[in-house]
Amino acid sequence: MFICLCQGITDSQIRQAVRDGNMTLAEVRQKLPVATQCGRCTQSVKDVINEELAQS
Ligand code: FES
Repeated sequence: MFICLCQGITDSQIRQAVRDGNMTLAEVRQKLPVATQCGRCTQSVKDVINEELAQS
């Protein structure tokens, strides 16, 4: 499922970045250009990161 439409980034890509050790939005952004344009996906990205952290 696409989370960031501006950059075409999916929840799977975000989850993989978290599993690779990126635990914050700032860290995930160093791997993926997520939430770097309109910013509307910012809260959704945070939710996916938190969900993934809660599962690990
Ligand atoms: Fe992610 Fe616009 S939808 S920056």
